[in-house]
Amino acid sequence: MLTKKRVPKFGAGKSTNLKVFAQALADAGCQALLTREPGGTPVAERIREVLLSQHDELMDADAELLLMFAARAQHLNTLIKPALAQGRVVISDRFTDATYAYQGGGRGIDPLRIAALENWVQGPVRPDLVVVFDVPVELGMARARARSQLDRFEQEQTTFFEAVRATYLQRASENPQRYRVIDASGSLEQVRLAMQPVIEDVLERWRA
Ligand SMILES: Nc1ncnc2c1ncn2[C@@H]1O[C@H](COP(=O)(O)OP(=O)(O)O)[C@@H](O)[C@H]1O
Ligand SMILES: [Mg+2]
Repeated sequence: MLTKKRVPKFGAGKSTNLKVFAQALADAGCQALLTREPGGTPVAERIREVLLSQHDELMDADAELLLMFAARAQHLNTLIKPALAQGRVVISDRFTDATYAYQGGGRGIDPLRIAALENWVQGPVRPDLVVVFDVPVELGMARARARSQLDRFEQEQTTFFEAVRATYLQRASENPQRYRVIDASGSLEQVRLAMQPVIEDVLERWRA
């Protein structure tokens, strides 16, 4: 029988540390919605399975990009926007920056095409804050390998992930007000400490 495992995309520690993040907000009285991409709703999770699993044919890069935004449209319109309308803080494990990094930097799709889809699907909606958990590529690949069998993206080569990482860091450096880059190469405790100022920042905005 085939067993289906939930596999991490890239072992930077996003999922691990975002749980800590959400718990810290909850401890301060802020019940954030913790969700993820691609996915976050039943339909979008079905699209995620198509995106992450192996197929007998190569997935076309444009097909991959459009599926990412199809999942995002579903996630944004049925889960995220209603939560924001209720005044909730939403934490998403990956969002459109991952599309610029993977389909743009990694696959080589023109970022102007991604921007066109971003504007179409999201209108003016952008994250208030983007936290980049940064690790050297070899460490991220080693963590992902140690954890479970690799998905379609995780099977890419080092050069792919170097481009992914460079894209995230470039976007962060271009817009330092919106981005926080956290060194996620240390212990979980070190990463937790590095997240403290970001948690304070989010709580301050939430209380305002
Ligand atoms: N700072 C860390 N030190 C050691 N192991 C870590 C650290 N952060 C995450 N891990 C481990 O690496 C693996 C991938 O972490 P995960 O949170 O799933 O990353 P991501 O969501 O970015 O793919 C998990 O097995 C996790 O326990
Ligand atoms: Mg994860």
